[in-house]
Amino acid sequence: MNDMLIRLYAMPAQPEAQLRAPDLVVRKPIGCEHEQIVAWVEEQFGAGWASEARVALQNRPVSLLVAVQCGQPIGFVCYDATARGYVGPIGVQASARGTGIGAALLRDALAEMRTVGYGYAIAGAVGAVEFFRGVAGATEIIDSTPGLYAGRVQERH
Ligand SMILES: CC(C)(COP(=O)(O)OP(=O)(O)OC[C@H]1O[C@@H](n2cnc3c(N)ncnc32)[C@H](O)[C@@H]1OP(=O)(O)O)[C@@H](O)C(=O)NCCC(=O)NCCS
Repeated sequence: MNDMLIRLYAMPAQPEAQLRAPDLVVRKPIGCEHEQIVAWVEEQFGAGWASEARVALQNRPVSLLVAVQCGQPIGFVCYDATARGYVGPIGVQASARGTGIGAALLRDALAEMRTVGYGYAIAGAVGAVEFFRGVAGATEIIDSTPGLYAGRVQERH
């Protein structure tokens, strides 16, 4: 899986929230939610992404956005978590996929990266290539496998 490059300066203006259900909010978590969010990420997506969520929650400003519906997290995205300038991980609960939540999370995270001063974002080891291409115009970075992940400490199972 190669990395992908996203030109933040060329991102189209955000098509505002019409994709989102009325009871769905994408926002920064507040302090009392951090541990529940990390636990949810671990349960849904495993220890590696939970580790990255912890990094993003420790950053100031916090670089994690969560999608909340009916008081429960249903999606999340991080930036500056794998490494500075990287966007991801991103995940939406399986039962809520395909309804625009992932796109809303990704667009909001990229808009924030642009606001804090980045010109480009890198999505690391992308599995969902068409998602990143379609939502953010991402292009594949050739010869970027294993890239930054070379020699990483493996998760125990
Ligand atoms: C990838 C993911 C975050 C997308 O979230 P989502 O809420 O289902 O995405 P959306 O509904 O906003 O879809 C936006 C567009 O991307 C497309 N898309 C969504 N997931 C896709 C995938 N896995 N592969 C290719 N295209 C995808 C949708 O068809 C949609 O296209 P359209 O605008 O032409 O209709 C979600 O599928 C997920 O959590 N997957 C498991 C974790 C994962 O793989 N994360 C990314 C690692 S690189």
